[in-house]
Amino acid sequence: MTTRTRVLLVGATGETGSSIVDGLLEAGHFDVAALIRPRSMIKPAIATLRERGVEIRSCDLQASEEDLVQALKNIDVVVSSIAPSEQESQIPLAKAAKKAGVKRFVPCGFITVAPPGGIMWLRDEKEKVYNHIKQLYLPYTIVDVGWWYQLSYPRLASGKIDYAMTIANDEIIGDGTAPTALTDLRDIGRYIARIIVDDRTLNKMVFAYNIVMTQNQIYDLLEEVSGEKIERNHVHEETIVHRVLAARQSSETYPFDPLKFIPRYIAEYQLSWGIRGDNNPEYAKYLGYLTSKDLYPDFKHSDFKEYLEMVCQGTAKGIYTGRIASKAQQRSFPRTESSDSLFSRGRTFPRTESSDSLFGRV
Ligand SMILES: NC(=O)c1ccc[n+]([C@@H]2O[C@H](COP(=O)([O-])OP(=O)(O)OC[C@H]3O[C@@H](n4cnc5c(N)ncnc54)[C@H](OP(=O)(O)O)[C@@H]3O)[C@@H](O)[C@H]2O)c1
Repeated sequence: MTTRTRVLLVGATGETGSSIVDGLLEAGHFDVAALIRPRSMIKPAIATLRERGVEIRSCDLQASEEDLVQALKNIDVVVSSIAPSEQESQIPLAKAAKKAGVKRFVPCGFITVAPPGGIMWLRDEKEKVYNHIKQLYLPYTIVDVGWWYQLSYPRLASGKIDYAMTIANDEIIGDGTAPTALTDLRDIGRYIARIIVDDRTLNKMVFAYNIVMTQNQIYDLLEEVSGEKIERNHVHEETIVHRVLAARQSSETYPFDPLKFIPRYIAEYQLSWGIRGDNNPEYAKYLGYLTSKDLYPDFKHSDFKEYLEMVCQGTAKGIYTGRIASKAQQRSFPRTESSDSLFSRGRTFPRTESSDSLFGRV
């Protein structure tokens, strides 16, 4: 008889969280609970989770330690896929998890491979949480996944795949030859179902990815699948660096303002995977990650071409549909010149010590 593992998910209603719910329920040997903040208890998604057999525990991450410990009662593993802006709110939960005797804490990673320390704000927000976990001596696993298939491909001029996209994503960084690791969002939960019960991944970082492709190869494949020619809009490296510096200057405000941080995320992601070439298995191994290819050679991941075929046939599931931010972004289809000018209003930004690291690793 297989032992059942009791898992508490933070972010179960989100995109990554939904994949994790699917993966754990499909595996069949997990008792799955979701930590839901009180204000979200009225969401229809909560009733759906219940119907699927997920136990709902309502508690705010700002609640007292006592309440958080109670919410973590009888839990073996915590997996968080909380929204990007909320990373630090995991710290009280990690403290409570230590008290509650949680055996493994999987903080919200789930991004591309990138080094800590000034390349990506989002990475550094996550690293703050990782450092707290290590100071607590709380058993952990950090999981990164590369770039979702769902965010990696460009728009088609016909507009027929706009339904599935969040952003137009119509820029090729530099010459488009940087290899970048991709994972189907739908596979993340299946990877998690393996990783969280694997002793080899305890207190380790894992890079779970499906394939490695360049942007040029992604464009070629979508042209083949769709039969449409896609304009190749190359963006020079210096433009990306300029955008990063501009977005950093305009986003130095707290509390979090998505309108200022979204351009920063995008520019810093482009910098990291597009220019520095961070998001690949070789660099992941250098940083100390174990990889899913080495750990689970038998894992059958979703095929990217088949996914793109579904996208073109109109049968793929869209991401972030129905969200206000998503709707606002979709209004920007097709991307216009004016959105570029948001990043470069003719100001020049002095090159600083730290901006040296913006350029390639080699
Ligand atoms: N690798 C990639 O290509 C990629 C792409 C996108 C995102 N990501 C990463 O994946 C992670 C998850 O992103 P996502 O896009 O899946 O998120 P998402 O769809 O926006 O979902 C966020 C989840 O966090 C929950 N949440 C937000 N604030 C909370 C709070 N204060 N207390 C408790 N729960 C809270 C939300 O619950 P409610 O229902 O209560 O709002 C929701 O379930 C992010 O950290 C991001 O860095 C990676």
